[in-house]
Amino acid sequence: MANTPDERITIPLIQARKAEGRKIVCLTAYDFPTARILDEAGVDIILVGDTLGMVVLGYENTLPVTMDEMIHHARAVTRAVRRSLVVGDMPYFSFHLGADETIRNASRFLKEAGAAAVKIEGASKKRLKLVEALVEAEIPVMGHVGMTPQSIHRYGRFRVRGTAGEEARRIVEDARALERAGAFAVVIESVPGEVGAEITRALSVPTIGIGAGVGCDGQVLVLHDLIGLSTGHLPKFVRKYADVHGVIAGAVGAYAEDVRAGRFPDDATSYHLKPTAPAAGPAPTRAAAARRKGRPRTGPEAGQGRAK
Ligand code: KIV
Repeated sequence: MANTPDERITIPLIQARKAEGRKIVCLTAYDFPTARILDEAGVDIILVGDTLGMVVLGYENTLPVTMDEMIHHARAVTRAVRRSLVVGDMPYFSFHLGADETIRNASRFLKEAGAAAVKIEGASKKRLKLVEALVEAEIPVMGHVGMTPQSIHRYGRFRVRGTAGEEARRIVEDARALERAGAFAVVIESVPGEVGAEITRALSVPTIGIGAGVGCDGQVLVLHDLIGLSTGHLPKFVRKYADVHGVIAGAVGAYAEDVRAGRFPDDATSYHLKPTAPAAGPAPTRAAAARRKGRPRTGPEAGQGRAK
């Protein structure tokens, strides 16, 4: 099922990629400008991940992120997106109080934010029932196995999972169970490449790897890691493609030097009196002229738009 460059990416198109052997490109985004860049660059899936909490909101882990924060950011993303499939990540405690609460929260991604699907971490028996309930409520679900960051306190730290036999078998089984429960794709995080490849062979729905080797049907990374805007330690699986932190720091430093040296603003970045202004004083503003003529104030002087 080949899609044209401008065609909206749908779940059937993503699923067809597996049979076609065409890799799926997925990245996170949390705001309008970056979502627009990703969409224009041809990214297939934009995940509004709960990593929002760590890379944008400055929390230590993903647990404090709320449903309202997720919706706020998902709405900014979907406003920018014309083509990519947008998936909203269910934050911690948005799906722990039962199926009704889970469906109510998940539906907000579709109804309020215009996303096409949700992602939910884990594959416990209870979680699988929730996946079934969501799918039954017409909410497509992306599963997430391997290292699940919302389980941070259970494991003590973010670490590779499935490096030994029993745990590896468990993760493969988790992924299979998610497919049976109706997940349209499964994210596999921080497992040996061999485990990522085995899960990919075992499932008929696409796998999206993050630190799960090259054998997955697609790859996802946290945008801020890839562009060099994250602070702190980066996991081994990240490839940093740019130094946006350095670019911003350089620009801010140059601006500060110019302000301090009186080089900014200059003539080109300043407004000037009109050449026809009478010598006695400044020309009346548009607002004053409008008042004299009895017209209402509009335009930049009335606080609308940015002055040219
Ligand atoms: O929240 C997130 O960004 C994620 C990806 C890392 C898969 O879950």
